[in-house]
Amino acid sequence: MSGDQRDFIWVPQATAIAREAGARLREFFSQGVATEYKGDVDLVTVADRTAEKLIRQRLSEAFPEHGIFGEEGTRDRLDGEYRWYVDPLDGTTNFAHGFPQFCVSLGLEQRRGSLATDEDGTLVAAVIYDPLRDDLYAAERGRGAQLNGKPMRVSSTPELAEALIATGFPSRKRHESPNIHFYHEFSLRSHGVRRAGSAALDLAYVAAGRLDAFWEFNLNPWDIAAGILLVEEAGGRVTDFSGNPFHIHGRELLASNGLIHAELIGLFEDMFAGRNLAPIPTPQEFAARRNASKAGS
Ligand code: IPD
Ligand code: CA
Ligand code: CA
Repeated sequence: MSGDQRDFIWVPQATAIAREAGARLREFFSQGVATEYKGDVDLVTVADRTAEKLIRQRLSEAFPEHGIFGEEGTRDRLDGEYRWYVDPLDGTTNFAHGFPQFCVSLGLEQRRGSLATDEDGTLVAAVIYDPLRDDLYAAERGRGAQLNGKPMRVSSTPELAEALIATGFPSRKRHESPNIHFYHEFSLRSHGVRRAGSAALDLAYVAAGRLDAFWEFNLNPWDIAAGILLVEEAGGRVTDFSGNPFHIHGRELLASNGLIHAELIGLFEDMFAGRNLAPIPTPQEFAARRNASKAGS
């Protein structure tokens, strides 16, 4: 594993760009920004748009041949060999509420040959920047992963019962998400499940060994491109919920330290089959117990 940013090809320039965008986000965060709705509870702010505009300009200057696929609408040069997936602000809901957990995420994919638009290339570089902690996560394929310039490694937690894990919930079509069932089951079988509101940082935390695993339904390529490479280069594993190879345009993401991956996949399998589920009291059952204990006191 590399311990030196000089070995990286794309990371140094991407780091400078992520830091500049992060500095703008910090300014907006301290001023406070108005919130707009893209739909349902899918929020967007002037900070998301300003950061994407800046990143688009800087990436185009640094890598004029590279394509850019950004959450806030950038679709430049998508027929090229390289493509940046850009989330200018991952954790917008947190940001809009003043909750200090968000980041800039830049993931570079190499697309050799004539791939269909939604066919995967190879993720080759990743930068995630947390501007409030000034934490910079970076990786390149085959060259290792780093946190603030030092080699970064996934945790060595051997089993789910000792793990701290994380998930997220969608801001679109919320009523269609089954994730609350998985949240419940995983909570009972681990040290706890965090839901901090930035998928990119959740993945960076798995890579850094701060979390042992992360799963989410229905994420987009810009949320995860960088984080996936960080986890893989830090020695972890990323698949769908059945253990199949992960697809960047796929709708299932399971990332872990590798050691607890099989156990997690087994639990998904059981849950999809309705096996071994822990019962949970309904609010009515709870209310009945509550009333009974009030009556007895
Ligand atoms: C969201 C965050 C959140 C995840 C959502 C994403 P955004 O991205 O990553 O953690 O649960 O599914 O949409 O909208 O803040 O860039
Ligand atoms: Ca996002
Ligand atoms: Ca975003």
